[in-house]
Amino acid sequence: MQLSKEMAAAINDQIKAEFDSAYIYMAMEAYFKDAGFDGMAHWMHKQCKEEIEHAERFIDYLYDRGARFIVPDVAKPKDSYESPLDAFKAAYAHEQYVTSRIYKLVDMAMAEKDYASLSMLKWFVDEQVEEEDNASSIVAKLERLGTHHLFLIDKELGER
Ligand SMILES: [Fe+2]
Ligand SMILES: [Fe+2]
Repeated sequence: MQLSKEMAAAINDQIKAEFDSAYIYMAMEAYFKDAGFDGMAHWMHKQCKEEIEHAERFIDYLYDRGARFIVPDVAKPKDSYESPLDAFKAAYAHEQYVTSRIYKLVDMAMAEKDYASLSMLKWFVDEQVEEEDNASSIVAKLERLGTHHLFLIDKELGER
């Protein structure tokens, strides 16, 4: 069965969102580097790479279904934050936003009875649980330990 035009367009849109995510985390990496938090920068570097992998997973899926991938424009991300907590809060909010996007794709696949897309999207539903958990537990840690322990948290995140 051919992928619907609507689903192909929605997946292309999601590929843009994944590259936007990669750029957001790349900008956070640059912010942390500049602020002297090498561990947090390292964490963001890995996060950025994961987002590119997400984009690639969607791109491969389009190819597998004989659909066209259109290389998207990437939005310029915000490049400065008030504090590490501010940056991780933004990361968490962003992941929640991405989850809502994935759910919309699932809704669409269900409406179209596109079982292949549903199956592919299941991986992303699970991945978003992990993504939100990762970001929210760092936010919680930063809130709990506060500014006095920033360097300890930085060291821990450097081990990702
Ligand atoms: Fe992603
Ligand atoms: Fe993500």
